[in-house]
Amino acid sequence: MHLRRKLVAGNWKMNGSLAALAELGPVADAARAAGGVDVAICPPFTLIAPAVTRAGGAIAIGAQDCHAHESGAHTGCVAVGMLKEAGAKLVITGHSERRADQHETDAEVRAKAEAALRGGLLTIVCVGETDAERRAGSHVGRVTTMLAGSLPEDWEEGELVVAYEPVWAIGTGNVATPADVAEMHKAIRTHLVGRFGDRGNRIRILYGGSVKADNAAELFAVADVDGALVGGASLTAAAFVPIVEAAAG
Ligand code: PGA
Repeated sequence: MHLRRKLVAGNWKMNGSLAALAELGPVADAARAAGGVDVAICPPFTLIAPAVTRAGGAIAIGAQDCHAHESGAHTGCVAVGMLKEAGAKLVITGHSERRADQHETDAEVRAKAEAALRGGLLTIVCVGETDAERRAGSHVGRVTTMLAGSLPEDWEEGELVVAYEPVWAIGTGNVATPADVAEMHKAIRTHLVGRFGDRGNRIRILYGGSVKADNAAELFAVADVDGALVGGASLTAAAFVPIVEAAAG
């Protein structure tokens, strides 16, 4: 078996409805047909349980955030145990929109990731530089700092996945070039191996930011790109299925 099976995860953000879950049917068919690729969809919290029913096991369903605590006085938040009860198998933590809108810090992202891993979830930790940071040439340093602060020190359960999502590429149609992606994924791999030893070689690194049917194959061919985190193009089966197929090679 390949060291790191590709993972294609859709992030629906604050989009979707019960009716939109019909999109999962053809995605599940494609996931079964593709084989050798892990496929996931992270809809809003309210759609997790019905999505699990619709996905029929072919697609892992996950959440876009979780709280670091198991329960308590945290109005509006959702704990890992609750996600698991709804059938979630994974969670996205530290997405740049949450870092911006909810002012999440690296330390908070780490606490959430630790809680999610303790709960046995596949946990995607997102990092990525802004346009200004890239133009200043500080993108690799910035992402390395985010990794240092956001990743857990150790974990026994679950699976840690890193998503590199340059902020300037998210929802803009400005996809990073294969050379940009290669540079950053290599730097991330170096950080992971330096920190976790050989375990760092088994951590999947996803690229995210304007991944579409027409650029997916090129991105998946880059060394150390172990899949994609897909926003806009995950909302319809017509847009998402070709990305799953590209990951299957
Ligand atoms: P996008 O979003 O594919 O719409 O650029 C990616 C993400 O935010 O995960």
